[in-house]
Amino acid sequence: MQFDTFSANSSVLASSTLPSLAKESFSTRQKSFAGIISQSEKMQRVFSIIEKVAKTGATVLILGETGTGKELVARATHKLSGRRGPLIPVNCGAIPEDILESELFGHEKGAFTGAVSSKVGRFQMAEGGTIFLDEIGEMSPKLQVKLLRVLQEHRVEPVGSTKSIEVDVRVIAATNKDLREEVKAGRFREDLFYRLQVIPIKLPPLRERGADVKLLSDFFVSRACERFGLPQKRISEEVSKKLANYNWPGNIRELENMIERLVLLSDSDTLDVNDFPGHIAEQSSEAPSFDFETEIPSEGVDFNALISDYENHLIMTALAKTNGNKKAAAKLLHLNRTTLVEKIKKKGLETGLRGEIEVEVTPDDVDPLFEA
Ligand SMILES: Nc1ncnc2c1ncn2[C@@H]1O[C@H](COP(=O)(O)OP(=O)(O)OP(=O)(O)O)[C@@H](O)[C@H]1O
Ligand SMILES: [Mg+2]
Repeated sequence: MQFDTFSANSSVLASSTLPSLAKESFSTRQKSFAGIISQSEKMQRVFSIIEKVAKTGATVLILGETGTGKELVARATHKLSGRRGPLIPVNCGAIPEDILESELFGHEKGAFTGAVSSKVGRFQMAEGGTIFLDEIGEMSPKLQVKLLRVLQEHRVEPVGSTKSIEVDVRVIAATNKDLREEVKAGRFREDLFYRLQVIPIKLPPLRERGADVKLLSDFFVSRACERFGLPQKRISEEVSKKLANYNWPGNIRELENMIERLVLLSDSDTLDVNDFPGHIAEQSSEAPSFDFETEIPSEGVDFNALISDYENHLIMTALAKTNGNKKAAAKLLHLNRTTLVEKIKKKGLETGLRGEIEVEVTPDDVDPLFEA
């Protein structure tokens, strides 16, 4: 796998004027994949898929909550594709329908009021490269039909033109919407959905990336200090634990923005609980209950609750690993399928399952020979 090795602040580390504190915090060299920082197992699977499909030209659909790095993944896929043309992004949610049509496909002079000259569309601009259709879930039904035709025929027809132009463009789309739900609700065309999701890449939310919260927060602190020309700061142990327990609805973007703000506002070289907003300060500093290394505090622990938590964690992890396949998950856990199904029912894990387990493509499922 192609990993770039980076040091959180390698240039700063070289300086002998650094406070010993910063040297200690960032002495470990970490790994990133084309600029995407993660050591979580789920993201390693994403990296394998990107690496496997980048050069194929296959259409990729990136799914994930807001701030999970969909744009970074699109850029990484283009970067590793070896395609000679540019990456042209289009935010389908931010451009009104009529303008979007001519933005994507171009228009002829006089095609509509105000079209004083002809215009080359973004598909043509991306010739030999990649077009990144961000927020594809927002595209109007009329444009969905047009896009489907382009994907099938590899030709675009500028507005007001009778001629179509051949294009060699790789398509990457992204959305934070549940496109299956959009299809069910009749807002997104089923044929387009299947045409786009040749390779679906589901990005896990930050709360499911384990130690990445610490890795990323240390990285963002270091980078912000460097950018703003401030002496290196660090995050206190207590805050690190609280950050790990927060559920990050805005994902990595939320973490990144919060850290940058606090680096600027805080006067001390250690970001402590008092520097953080209430919703972080109020988080528990306890390690997650299924962590084996948790010491038993003097007031004791609830044995049955801890065991039950750990059972839930094992079941959900096995189901995530098997893409929700209960038979395979039972095998992983050395349980009978019926025992597992009973446990899932009894523990009320069905709801969590529907929300959390998506069918993911594992690297082994991807046929490297498929065509775009
Ligand atoms: N793994 C990562 N390592 C470093 N930075 C990251 C990582 N993931 C996301 N970021 C940063 O977080 C911010 C949000 O990422 P990005 O814009 O790619 O998310 P997104 O999924 O496209 O969000 P949205 O759905 O809101 O458009 C960016 O500044 C990006 O550089
Ligand atoms: Mg985005």
